[in-house]
Amino acid sequence: MDEARSIGAGDLRVLHHPVLGDLPVSRPVQITVDGQPLVAREGEAIAAALLAHGILVCRTMPRGREPRGLFCALGRCTDCLMTVDGEPNVRACLTPVREGQDIWTQAGLGRWEGPAG
Ligand code: FES
Repeated sequence: MDEARSIGAGDLRVLHHPVLGDLPVSRPVQITVDGQPLVAREGEAIAAALLAHGILVCRTMPRGREPRGLFCALGRCTDCLMTVDGEPNVRACLTPVREGQDIWTQAGLGRWEGPAG
């Protein structure tokens, strides 16, 4: 078993697909999601890393706080918006993971936590 496949018992990725074949080997990347450490695969989208660990909610709606998660998975809706490294409204389906990334479930419209906010 390669190191990327030994990411953890909670890994829900499809490791072998009958048409696409085996999941390519990639380097593990350490990220933090809502303050909890999580191991992702270099090059994958944030949303893919979250789904692989059973995390379905990316944000909540501004008024009713209903949860939202991956919907279109191609950057057309706004259901996967998250706060990443202090920047709100980052599309988790399009944004690749980076070593040390700090990712938070976004509440409503989010708020800037960086130097400009
Ligand atoms: S899931 Fe629709 S933009 Fe990301």
